[in-house]
Amino acid sequence: MRRTHHCNELRAQHIGERVTLMGWVHLRRDLGGLIFVDIRDREGITQAVFDPSELSAQLFEVAESLRSESVIAVSGKVRRRPGHNPTDRIPTGEIEVEAEALEILNQASLLPFPIDDSETTLKVNEELRLQYRYLDLRRPEMLNNLRLRSKVAVEMRAFLDQEGFLEVETPTLFKSTPEGAREFIVPFRNMPGYFYALPQSPQQFKQILMVSGVERYFQLARCYRDEDLRADRQPEFTQLDIEMSFIEREDIYSLIEGLLKRVWKLARNLDIATPFPRISFEEVMNRWGSDKPDTRFEMELTDFTEEFRASAFKVFSGTVAAGGVVKAINAKGLAGATQGQMETMTEIATALGAKGLASIKVENGNWKSPIAKFFSEAEKEALTRKLAIAEGDLILFAADKEWLRACEILGRIRLYCAELLKAQGQLQIPVDQFNFLWVVDFPLMSYDTEMDRWYSSHHPFTAPVTEDIPLLKEDPKKVRGQHYDIVVNGVELGGGSIRIHQPNVQKTIFEEVLKISPELVQSRFGYLLEAFRYGAPPHGGIALGFDRLVAMLCGSSSIRDVIAFPKTMKGACLMTQSPGKVEEAQLRDLHLSLNLKKGAPAEEPPIQNS
Ligand code: AMO
Ligand code: AMP
Repeated sequence: MRRTHHCNELRAQHIGERVTLMGWVHLRRDLGGLIFVDIRDREGITQAVFDPSELSAQLFEVAESLRSESVIAVSGKVRRRPGHNPTDRIPTGEIEVEAEALEILNQASLLPFPIDDSETTLKVNEELRLQYRYLDLRRPEMLNNLRLRSKVAVEMRAFLDQEGFLEVETPTLFKSTPEGAREFIVPFRNMPGYFYALPQSPQQFKQILMVSGVERYFQLARCYRDEDLRADRQPEFTQLDIEMSFIEREDIYSLIEGLLKRVWKLARNLDIATPFPRISFEEVMNRWGSDKPDTRFEMELTDFTEEFRASAFKVFSGTVAAGGVVKAINAKGLAGATQGQMETMTEIATALGAKGLASIKVENGNWKSPIAKFFSEAEKEALTRKLAIAEGDLILFAADKEWLRACEILGRIRLYCAELLKAQGQLQIPVDQFNFLWVVDFPLMSYDTEMDRWYSSHHPFTAPVTEDIPLLKEDPKKVRGQHYDIVVNGVELGGGSIRIHQPNVQKTIFEEVLKISPELVQSRFGYLLEAFRYGAPPHGGIALGFDRLVAMLCGSSSIRDVIAFPKTMKGACLMTQSPGKVEEAQLRDLHLSLNLKKGAPAEEPPIQNS
């Protein structure tokens, strides 16, 4: 038998034709002596009918033996389906195939879980779904995610090709570099004691490609980072990686806006408005308490530093006297938050380093608050006015010596409050709302108080804003970087920067700001500094998290749903049981020996997902 149609194709105009369908047994029903089988393939579902009065007893027996998810081929005549109504559960519902021949290509064993998008299937625990990933991927929703991922990749390639970009592959056996996330290292048999490292991104290669004169590069690049995993982080993931020469920041903004416009049109049939707002790091922190703000709802942060400078509430006035700030949000309608929810908020705040989380609940015309008794009339008036306080509101405060920490604390509380309001139906966000924005003017350097050293906010190749270069050595904190992030609905979709292309500036950053020894700079980045000495054009670029982008388009909350074979939160592949052990002989070949402390590494691979 040869397949003639896909299972989504047959309609009334095919009535009378002889066809052959191939696919999986989606559903079998035995009704009034007839057997109805829904055959499913990648494209859709078609019903076949097995009628004992038309078929040999032997063939009918085969039909009776069909198990769910077995692979079959059915030939027969297309006929109008009796009793069809136009709102049928399947688009091919006006017809059915009257089976004349049936072949079981592969009878399936009993399934570990049902294959459909119903609630029962979705409740199946994710570990089981990951262990039988091939079955999970048969679900229409998952298959559609893969389909969309593929279409988006094709569209991006077409767009960038039109824009004059070359797709260039860069190595995934790279070497260890001391900046950024922890790396996966790869031992090499031919050079005992030497290791490759898997790249965290093609950053250095793409900059070298600019030195080579490629001018416009892109790659759907696999990146590897050994970092703590979350719903939006995998140890290996894909970036749409881009680099361009002879450009400024605005060139990247408009390129990416054009690209995302095309992709959103294709995938969601939406016309997203461009240009996206460009908002400084300082402003996003002040208003939303996050460098990836979700601007689809309000609840913005309000500053009360001046109002509480001379307050009788010493926690606030003391913080201001120490050079700190006082900020508040108004979670409208959340005065009914439970004790447990209030405690969760305090836990969130203290985990971020808050000393407390003062609050006011406005109930029955009163301010219920452990601290309101300290407030003067003027302070109360300022709060009421600036926060538009009304019955049912919940006001939350952060006072901190560090401006950034106060913002971050309330930023996280803001998100938690939004979750509560959503759960109560008080906050509704349309599924088709996508609030894009560029976050710009990040500080070039951040300070790690524990390690007592500066580190690059983005990466060490980001160029400082030109007029800030003189401040590099004397006051790194004040230097702004030419770094930008693209954010949508609270997700960091991508980030990039204009790069340093002068070897002396790059050397200053490495040696005098980051305090990497000249020897280490030479051994790790020597080739890059060398390359910059032979005619490096000014250049810059960006990388979009491709998995995050597709997840956003699919409306998935986890990138695991758009990656064919993802790892668990513990970094394991439950289907192949990786990571796994290797043979003693393999270690010997690599001149490696294990020095496992008793009980330290797991005897068995870490297969739980939580
Ligand atoms: P950055 O580190 O910001 O920049 O990464 C760019 C984007 O990649 C995505 N991303 C991830 N996605 C899934 N799992 C992860 N573990 C993960 N880590 C990052 C995010 C992020 O915004 N070389 C620079 C880019 C440049 O400067 O051009 C870079 O890698 O969406
Ligand atoms: P205390 O005087 O420490 O008992 O704090 C009184 C109230 O202020 C409590 O509700 C604390 O959670 C809150 N609080 C204490 N420190 C801070 C702070 N730095 N920012 C916001 N609220 C605080």
